[in-house]
Amino acid sequence: MDSQAVRPPLTAIEARVDVSASLPLSMGQIGDDIDRLFDALLSAPPDSRARLYEAMRHAAIGGGKRLRPLLVVAACGLFNVDRDRALRVGLAVECIHVYSLIHDDLPCMDDDDLRRGKPTVHRAFDEATAILAGDSLHALAFEVLADGATHEDPSVRAELIAELARAAGPSGMAGGQMMDLMAEEATLDIASITRLQQLKTGALIGFCLEAAAIMGRIPADGRTRLRGFARDLGLAFQIADDLLDAEGEEAKTGKRVGKDGVRGKETFVSLVGPDRARQQADLLAMQAVEHLQHFGPEADLLRAIARFAAERDH
Ligand code: IPE
Ligand code: IPE
Ligand code: MG
Ligand code: MG
Ligand code: MG
Repeated sequence: MDSQAVRPPLTAIEARVDVSASLPLSMGQIGDDIDRLFDALLSAPPDSRARLYEAMRHAAIGGGKRLRPLLVVAACGLFNVDRDRALRVGLAVECIHVYSLIHDDLPCMDDDDLRRGKPTVHRAFDEATAILAGDSLHALAFEVLADGATHEDPSVRAELIAELARAAGPSGMAGGQMMDLMAEEATLDIASITRLQQLKTGALIGFCLEAAAIMGRIPADGRTRLRGFARDLGLAFQIADDLLDAEGEEAKTGKRVGKDGVRGKETFVSLVGPDRARQQADLLAMQAVEHLQHFGPEADLLRAIARFAAERDH
């Protein structure tokens, strides 16, 4: 029998993506690389700061999808940027991401006890240590970018630092987290939820693509398509996160599910329901892939990441 005859039809996104781009392999490699870099940077000193280092290691090593470092490395691949340098930039954005997760889980924010399949930092240690571990990872991100090993040109390093600061601060992730907390008390419309998600999650994802363009010395007017890709990808990724909270499994996500509803948090899913939210995530992933039209196979990993962002189960 012709095996083609029994093969289910490709989804619209699969039809546009070279499925041979091995996403699981790339994710595994990045996971190992980032673990190795954190391990080297975070060896605990023989004094009373050891507890802080242990808390940072607990949060940063051995878990997470490492999607942001993978995005940096995949996008740097478009511009032939050295992989070790790209990894350093990926490490910096992962530092900010992990810090944001530690603080997001605190009792004064989402009050969560499980993260990446382990107790959250304030549960495994204590709240003060969790705050300091987050603060320290925040600082470490900029220390990594400022180092000459990231790029020999100080103006490139300065641009990376300025972009990451913007993406992490009140115009980016922290601002989005404020909006997210306010969303527990308010009724938001689609435009407001979209804005919230663009800041809370989209800004750091946007940095990953922008950073690759900075490292590749791509002029600002050549970055429009990558920005479009990042915007659609970031929204698809956060809608998938909200869907996983509504319908996912703790064993796969490594974090508690069903929390947004309990806290009365307005999300894309609470607003339009899971079916339309899933359609929207798929549509956004497809749009993200379309922004890469003018790239060849060198962008296949980015295409695969976009599809994963919408369809993931963890
Ligand atoms: C969770 O991010 C928080 C959001 C911004 C949606 P991830 O889903 O990337 O978490 P890890 O890094 O895999 O743990
Ligand atoms: C947090 O969003 C995004 C951050 C900036 C940390 P969520 O609160 O939805 O993330 P999870 O679901 O706890 O990972
Ligand atoms: Mg939160
Ligand atoms: Mg949370
Ligand atoms: Mg969530």
